[in-house]
Amino acid sequence: MSKLIIYFSRSGENYFSGEIKHAEKGNTEVIAEYIREFTGARMFKVEAKNEYPEDYAECGKIAKAEKESDARPELKEALRDISQYDEIFIGYPNWCGTLPMPMWTQLEQLDFTGKVVKPFVTHEGSGFGTSEDDLEKLCSGAVFKKGMAVLGKHIHDAKDFVKIWTEE
Ligand SMILES: Cc1cc2nc3c(=O)[nH]c(=O)nc-3n(C[C@H](O)[C@H](O)[C@H](O)COP(=O)(O)O)c2cc1C
Repeated sequence: MSKLIIYFSRSGENYFSGEIKHAEKGNTEVIAEYIREFTGARMFKVEAKNEYPEDYAECGKIAKAEKESDARPELKEALRDISQYDEIFIGYPNWCGTLPMPMWTQLEQLDFTGKVVKPFVTHEGSGFGTSEDDLEKLCSGAVFKKGMAVLGKHIHDAKDFVKIWTEE
């Protein structure tokens, strides 16, 4: 079975248990790499053409405005065709209660009919928020499997948990 990971992740300042810290690699990317290790899936990173600021508060302002205006930020490069894949892991941080808007830009362009989708999210307490419902609309025709939510502070202890989830 051919597998793909479509994910968004931002390095830079983030909250970890109430404290702002700098991360060289985003939390979701850490989880995506575990999934690749266990499944051999190909990884595709969704990136907005205008990079989000390193500063947490500045990034928050932009993300909130994009969500409120239902924006579709332009991407550096879009994935066009997923026809060769059967199982697709879709990962992202919870941003303002749902997926970051660049994921909407990307997912709306793809045909998910008949694909198995396994969503995963990293977050600071809100879990998936509304994103699982939003994903069902964005990936219409897909067969959804149980999602996995990981708290940002737990990502480095989550490897066994991720392995079990990939095998479910
Ligand atoms: C713009 C922005 C908005 C966020 N909104 C939420 C939120 O609504 N709920 C939540 O639990 N965490 C929220 N977070 C925290 C992130 O979901 C969390 O730090 C995540 O692990 C970051 O993943 P990444 O490093 O892969 O980008 C937000 C973070 C940012 C930068």
